[in-house]
Amino acid sequence: MDFPPDLISSLQKADRIAVLTGAGASQESGLRTFRDSQDGLWAKYKPTDLASPEAFARDPKLVWDWYAWRREAIKGVRPNRGHYALVEMESKVADFTLITQNVDGLHRFAGSKKIHELHGNINRVRCSQCGMFTEEWGDDTESVPTCGKCGGLLRPDVVWFGESLPRGELEAAVLAARNCQVFFSIGTSGVVQPAASLAFAAHNKGALVVEINAESTPLTPKADYFFQGKSGEILPELVNAVWRNKD
Ligand code: OAD
Ligand code: ZN
Repeated sequence: MDFPPDLISSLQKADRIAVLTGAGASQESGLRTFRDSQDGLWAKYKPTDLASPEAFARDPKLVWDWYAWRREAIKGVRPNRGHYALVEMESKVADFTLITQNVDGLHRFAGSKKIHELHGNINRVRCSQCGMFTEEWGDDTESVPTCGKCGGLLRPDVVWFGESLPRGELEAAVLAARNCQVFFSIGTSGVVQPAASLAFAAHNKGALVVEINAESTPLTPKADYFFQGKSGEILPELVNAVWRNKD
């Protein structure tokens, strides 16, 4: 792919870059995005109908099982070339912040260091009553495991629809978006707030906004550069063009 020379030179000069990723960044690792239909057992449910406090209150076992199934699916999954390109970008840029909506932990697995997980992490579990985190829980398939301290039902440490984001992570993400010179929006449909507003915050503060997505999104008309395609293909090429050929 040919990248515009002015983008290449802006990136070479930038020392403050922020990146937001969504489910599309993990698609080439074999994970379905949120708005794709699901397969197998779960095909009749929409993720948006399972990822909510109301769904958990109505049928905790259903919601627990869905996350347990996704946790299993993620175990065999590896980062893709897009994840590794972001690790390389971090090593080239003085102040680099990665903000992700993904709960799969693949950025950390790949080696990214400064990460803000806005929607939590599926591999962490906490009590729905007292909030205590736990590393170990029973595999009893009959019922949802309970908290050793208060007996409350355990739940994944992810953000559900209608819940607020972890405050520290969100604050750090907003700060990075406001301070960066270049903001990347990668593989996210940009329809879930507040994550979707970060690119606009960066744009309003004068940052260049670069979008990489398989399709156009509500952000596309505002983006300074839009590259349509797969992040696992475009990102390594871009990192190569900008930083490998520098000097
Ligand atoms: P979505 O599933 O909404 O969007 C995935 C985006 O990735 C779409 O815009 C696709 O066009 C794009 N895409 C797919 N494959 C791609 C690829 N290989 N390379 C580049 N782009 C690709 O996922 P998110 O935007 O992450 O929230 O969804 C945001 C949030 O909504 C999720 O974190 C989750 C969900 O409900 C919570 O659970 C709170
Ligand atoms: Zn508890």
